Amino acid sequence: MDALTQYLEKHQDQFLEDLKAILRIPSVSADPAFKGDVRRCAEHLAQHLRTTGMTTVEVVETKGHPIVYAEWLGAPGAPTVLLYGHYDVQPPDPLDLWKTPPFEPTLRDGKLYARGACDDKGQVYMHCSAIAAHLAVNGKLPVNVKMMIEGEEESGSGSLEPFLVAWKERLKADVIVVSDTSMLGPDQPALCYALRGLVYTQIEVTGPTRDLHSGEFGGAVKNPANALAAILAGLHDADGRCTVPGFYDRVRQLTETEKQAIRDLPFDEAAFIKETGAPQAFGEKGHSTYERITSRPTCDVNGMWSGYIGEGAKTVLPSFAAAKVSMRLVPDQKPDEVFAAFEAHVRKLAPPSVTVKVVNHHGAVPFITDPDHPMLQAAVRALARSWAKKPALLREGGSIPVMAAFQKVLGYPCILMGFGLHDDQVHAPNEKYSLTSFHGGTKSCAYLYEELAKH
Ligand code: BES
Ligand code: MN
Ligand code: MN
Repeated sequence: MDALTQYLEKHQDQFLEDLKAILRIPSVSADPAFKGDVRRCAEHLAQHLRTTGMTTVEVVETKGHPIVYAEWLGAPGAPTVLLYGHYDVQPPDPLDLWKTPPFEPTLRDGKLYARGACDDKGQVYMHCSAIAAHLAVNGKLPVNVKMMIEGEEESGSGSLEPFLVAWKERLKADVIVVSDTSMLGPDQPALCYALRGLVYTQIEVTGPTRDLHSGEFGGAVKNPANALAAILAGLHDADGRCTVPGFYDRVRQLTETEKQAIRDLPFDEAAFIKETGAPQAFGEKGHSTYERITSRPTCDVNGMWSGYIGEGAKTVLPSFAAAKVSMRLVPDQKPDEVFAAFEAHVRKLAPPSVTVKVVNHHGAVPFITDPDHPMLQAAVRALARSWAKKPALLREGGSIPVMAAFQKVLGYPCILMGFGLHDDQVHAPNEKYSLTSFHGGTKSCAYLYEELAKH
């Protein structure tokens, strides 16, 4: 065993303690109440990077939450890797469903439970650990590293594109590496070459100016909750297809190679559905579950509220009803175009007896890159060195808003090498990260820098 691998194995407990320390900071980007904690988290990460031996570590101000930027440029002539990740997390709610508190990382059965354990602090810390190991063993890294870890990914990465434009020269690199995606199974590594985009909306329906007695007024004016239900029901047809006009027009069809690759993937559809607890699979007719979650667009209600939801009964006709509705997009759909068509469609579905407002929250442009790019081969080799099974090459269903901006502004090849598992409960109570992913992933990152140095 080489010295680097020995070091990585010997220091696993230390790497885990380092991860636990940042998981204790509640860096929830969506909620202004956590603004101070988000900053404290950025400062903590910056300090940690200084101790690993990264030079020029900065906490960069933005209009929103700060970006942590760090460099190590001691390998002249070698390629430069731009590492991207996020230190912010999703809100931990609902709190009562957590077995142990979200910001008190707890180890159970080889899994570390905490908000952000997998998404994305655990994955950022694989890179921190891999860098620390190289610097400790060799006093240097095989490649130059620029690291950019943001604090707004979970709320749309609003400050990122202006940052990329302003820092374009400083961010010059040969390849972008991101660890914020998934594996196909605990022993099945994967590289991701496409992500879905997003349009996130809110529909607000108003009827009377105040709640009304449903005996005195019921039957006389339109109930906004009834109207909203009709609008939402009108968003899909009987085949599970979204009814927004033109929604599918720009959807890029899968190539024959991609279709074959999907058939060859070791994806256990029955187990995937069973793990969710849902009674059966459901989705757009004519497509497999795997296609539905990776390469087909969707439209989903994420939340809705109206009227009385307290104990017992209250005979009331609500004055207001609202829903959050989002659409996952695939190449080559355009968020702005989809939002405009969605808004027009919602207005058409709404009866004249209520007023409707449609808000566009935030979005993400879908991302796709060439799965045959030679840089990706470095990642294939790195994964082959650290896992028994050959890595799968796949599309994923989640969104990372900055990926499209990377392509547009910087144009470098992108490697998405992530280690999440489908039962990691990201964005949900009891998020966890498996130690097999954390330690295996750390090795893969350490080897990736070596493999990239050969380019
Ligand atoms: N890490 C995820 C994205 C992801 C999830 C990629 C699963 C591949 C598989 C990221 O942190 C995330 O949650 N993104 C948000 C983006 C949104 C808030 C704009 C998402 O996908 O909902
Ligand atoms: Mn993430
Ligand atoms: Mn996330």
